[in-house]
Amino acid sequence: MYQTLLTSLDNNIFTITINRPDKLNALNKTVMEELSKVMDEVHDNPEIRSVIITGAGPKSFVAGADISEFVGLNAAEGMEMARKGQAVFFKIENSTKPVIAAVNGFALGGGCELAMACHFRLASDNAKFGQPEVNLGLIPGYGGTQRLTQLIGKGRSLELLMSANMIDAQTALQYGLVNYVTPPDQLIAKTRSILEVINTKAPLAVGQCIQAANAAYGNRPLDTSTAYSYLSGYDVEVSAFGECFGTDDMKEGTSAFLEKRKANFTGK
Ligand code: COA
Repeated sequence: MYQTLLTSLDNNIFTITINRPDKLNALNKTVMEELSKVMDEVHDNPEIRSVIITGAGPKSFVAGADISEFVGLNAAEGMEMARKGQAVFFKIENSTKPVIAAVNGFALGGGCELAMACHFRLASDNAKFGQPEVNLGLIPGYGGTQRLTQLIGKGRSLELLMSANMIDAQTALQYGLVNYVTPPDQLIAKTRSILEVINTKAPLAVGQCIQAANAAYGNRPLDTSTAYSYLSGYDVEVSAFGECFGTDDMKEGTSAFLEKRKANFTGK
């Protein structure tokens, strides 16, 4: 179904593996188009409760945008590429189903940007993060300057952006760029174990957490048609909180607590 992605669904957790290991899973046009399509599949398939994004092979999550596709682009074409890339990553970030990056090696350039568009990140102990675009006379174009600054603060972000230095998994953990570091062979199991917990919670409420947390940073396309487009994060939280009261799951969750039984959430 996809040329550059492998997908599998197991116990309501959908795994997307970027599969160009001979190019260290670099993001070419086809990968970007397929990432956009696969997020539609995530949205449309009710069996999918949450998502893991990882890279094929032992060495790399994603080593960046495919540099061979940069050759000969002019300024207008460069802007177009950034707009399209940002739109794909906004789609991931604004998914109402949790999307977690399992970073299994290099997460450089567009790879680091992809990981940062996910809701949070785990890394294997051989992972390396960086934004090496200045080595190419470029800067990140898929949201990296914004999300890196949001996630690790301006000083650390600008040091990485301006120096092109890579950081290892332990430093990424210390910076708050990743939530956990595991041995490579335990990365997917640890990621799944977190999602298995999240998957027991009320799905609509989980989606509202994502929307409200994203609103803290204004991370949405300017032309979005969602109801939350022009609200502050606090306003989005008020709306999202209020909408939860209209759901069956909120009635079920509160009743179950008061009746001292386990809640049975239906996602309605
Ligand atoms: N775009 C296109 N091809 C890429 C790539 C990228 N971002 N990253 C790696 N590749 C390709 C290499 O060209 C090579 O292809 P080849 O075997 O056909 O020559 C293959 O992937 C393996 O990479 P290689 O460089 O041989 O591996 P390495 O272990 O020596 O080095 C890296 C690994 C990640 C340090 C190195 O590949 C690198 O610096 N990649 C570019 C990172 C980058 O600048 N990303 C930001 C892009 S905006």
